[in-house]
Amino acid sequence: MDSIVVQGGTALQGKIKIAGAKNAALTLMPATLLSEEPLTLTNAPRLSDIQTMTALLQSLGVEVTSMQDGKVQVLSSHAMTSTTADYEIVRKMRASNLVLGPLLARHHQAVVSLPGGCAIGARPMDIHVTALETMGAEIELKDGYLHATAKGGLKGARVPLRFASVGATENVLMAATLAKGTTIIENAAREPEIVDLAHCLRRMGAQIEGEGTSTITIEGVDRLGAATHPVVTDRIELGTYMLAPVFAGGEVECIGGRLDLVQSFAEKLDAAGVAVTETADGLKVARKNGRPSAVNVTTEVFPGFPTDLQAQMMAMLCTAKGTSVLEEKIFENRFMHAPELIRMGADIEVHGGTATVHGVERLKGAPVMATDLRASVSLILAGLAAEGETVVSRVYHLDRGYEHVEEKLSAVGAKIERVAGS
Ligand code: UD1
Repeated sequence: MDSIVVQGGTALQGKIKIAGAKNAALTLMPATLLSEEPLTLTNAPRLSDIQTMTALLQSLGVEVTSMQDGKVQVLSSHAMTSTTADYEIVRKMRASNLVLGPLLARHHQAVVSLPGGCAIGARPMDIHVTALETMGAEIELKDGYLHATAKGGLKGARVPLRFASVGATENVLMAATLAKGTTIIENAAREPEIVDLAHCLRRMGAQIEGEGTSTITIEGVDRLGAATHPVVTDRIELGTYMLAPVFAGGEVECIGGRLDLVQSFAEKLDAAGVAVTETADGLKVARKNGRPSAVNVTTEVFPGFPTDLQAQMMAMLCTAKGTSVLEEKIFENRFMHAPELIRMGADIEVHGGTATVHGVERLKGAPVMATDLRASVSLILAGLAAEGETVVSRVYHLDRGYEHVEEKLSAVGAKIERVAGS
């Protein structure tokens, strides 16, 4: 397995182009199942999670053509052969469950394995299931698979979600586009990836109002057509690279970055003494003076602080002046990076969903292990600031969510390389 080797202590200077959002692409791709006509996605990220979704869709008979080195994906569901999402593919990635809503909507049936993905909590599917049942689906769990049918098709309904789940909102939004009548999703998630999905579905002919708010109204239509849609900027990749100059010093401009995508995160950076400036092409970030200051962070649903930036923020706070408290409210068991950061000299105490970080002057390079996607990148960031060499092993998680991380960081001056493993 590959490792990433980082030599700390080099200031960064230059521009990093931010890719299209992994989490948007992973819901836009299954949206193709709603139509026989092609869906063309531009600005697609080149990631192993995208390959996993491609394999899943191909296993259902979807034709996927990749162009421009993977940046353009043309998907066509005109000759579907299956409505079963197999465990062998689904176990690799939780987002595989996003085929459930579209399959039920267009084919009135779906068999979907319960998902796997990062080991960051139980990750159940009750909200998806309850919501689709409210729309008339019958769903049963047999042998680890959800068996879902909607005889005569899904029906529009008032669908209140007990929690604003991102995936459940996406599944219901897609399903409702072809349901009979009006669906009102209450307590809907408001993440930018959901807004992006709604824009794409509207391009395909769907009737949707209210995306980006807690109430989304969808008027079902008989069919959806062809569309071309650019994937929104990846706000998590953006936030990650915004942190790079905070660790290493210097100044980095994140091309394609938008403040509205990372507002709550940028507010915390400001409070920590980091300068974030809007430019014509993106966002420029630099430390104002030396070490950042301690800040408290609580992860929340959008527009709150994103759980997917918690590990990176914790790594930054390891060398902040003072003590910071991080509360993880979205996933249990999402502090697996803490013991690894401690190996690098950090002073962190974890009690349940709360981590207390006492800032130290410097981290020291060490061999560390990546445990999930965001944890792995937080260790690379920590390595940029650490004295000496940091070797991050088990980086396969990293390739799920960050394209060419070592190339992007070395282009702005970081001393980082990938070492191929056996
Ligand atoms: C999506 C993102 C992920 C991000 C998360 C929260 C994708 C592909 N992934 O994941 O990167 O960390 O949003 O912003 O977009 N839950 C239930 N029952 C359900 C569904 C969820 O209890 O039926 C719980 C989960 O266990 C978790 C919380 O709700 O504790 C948040 O999950 P959800 O918003 O659904 O996240 P995902 O869509 O899986």
